[in-house]
Amino acid sequence: MKGVKVEQVNGNYQVTSDLEKPIPDPNQLLVKPIFGAVNPVDELMRNSGILITNWPWTPCCDVAGVVVEIGSEVTRFKVGDKVFGCQGVGFPGSGGAAEYCLFSEDIAFKKPDHISLAEAATMGVGNQTAALGLWNGLDIALPDPQNLPAISDEWVLVLGGGGSVGGYAVQLSKLSGYKVIASVSARSVGAAVAHGADETVDYKTPVDGQVAKIKEITKGKLHRIIDTTAFNANFVKKVLEEIKDDAGEKYFASVNDWEDCGILPGDAKFYPISLGPLGRPEAKEINEALSKFIAVIQVLVDASKVKPSEYNLVDGTGFESFIEAVKVQSGGSAKKVVAQLQEE
Ligand SMILES: NC(=O)c1ccc[n+]([C@@H]2O[C@H](COP(=O)([O-])OP(=O)(O)OC[C@H]3O[C@@H](n4cnc5c(N)ncnc54)[C@H](OP(=O)(O)O)[C@@H]3O)[C@@H](O)[C@H]2O)c1
Repeated sequence: MKGVKVEQVNGNYQVTSDLEKPIPDPNQLLVKPIFGAVNPVDELMRNSGILITNWPWTPCCDVAGVVVEIGSEVTRFKVGDKVFGCQGVGFPGSGGAAEYCLFSEDIAFKKPDHISLAEAATMGVGNQTAALGLWNGLDIALPDPQNLPAISDEWVLVLGGGGSVGGYAVQLSKLSGYKVIASVSARSVGAAVAHGADETVDYKTPVDGQVAKIKEITKGKLHRIIDTTAFNANFVKKVLEEIKDDAGEKYFASVNDWEDCGILPGDAKFYPISLGPLGRPEAKEINEALSKFIAVIQVLVDASKVKPSEYNLVDGTGFESFIEAVKVQSGGSAKKVVAQLQEE
């Protein structure tokens, strides 16, 4: 089948027609990807080979497409359904920049009519990563999507609240009953507020001023911090140092799962977010958690309570478009970058 491949670590993206067409297991769907969004992990994997079990490797882990075949035990989906989400990375059948890829029934989202396929392509990795951080890492109760909690006076600090993971972290924090203070640069204030942030702090201003502002706004009611940027452990330590004597356990979750941040001020509990192993048989805990979280997010998406991120769509349709989208994303796009891979 056609698609994008990379032959080796640091190899180039190439459009090819010699990829092996995946075959769905009993609990899987064969999906024709229509739109794919780029994530920082695509380039990280190409450059380093991390998480890649088989070469050639096909990128793109944020996919929206159409079900063309179902495994013998699939019950929730049928041929023709539109699905989206992240199914994992680096193993055969996971790459979305191809004519076909595999979705597992348990961790697939069904696309509601009010969201376009292009929008849906932006909603997998961000939601799923934020969900792990908040509901596994920050001691935030998984809400009942039919009966959402009222907003309490407790805050979540979301570092990178205008980005993809950060935007969904803002949305899901609010829907879980928390107020949100988002750390963003000027260009992302609008996005963070659109996602529901109550307050913002500019990460490009002097650190002491940011910490003072956070303390002043949250007034002893900040116990939960999520870093969706990967590079802010030192900043978080400064915030924790300031709030460590406030009553209550403190929690810090970070998308940086490769650095040990040591003992944190106030003995805050650290949770490294790790979506990477999703979809692999050995990642039982993450697969089960995500299956539970996706069921909740699905209801919220259907009810328009979780909204897609803004995105840039690159010109053209085809697998070349995904390669172009990676270039645009690497150039520092403030928005998610999406490519149309195939006609519907
Ligand atoms: N561990 C995992 O399982 C996992 C899963 C998914 C993603 N990730 C990682 O998570 C990171 C974010 O991914 P993404 O897709 O959300 O990227 P993204 O959409 O590009 O968002 C990154 C955001 O970080 C903000 N930012 C950069 N430096 C900051 C700072 N010092 N303080 C506060 N905000 C800052 C940027 O804001 P401005 O645009 O305003 O500068 C941008 O909004 C990437 O490193 C990615 O590899 C990890």
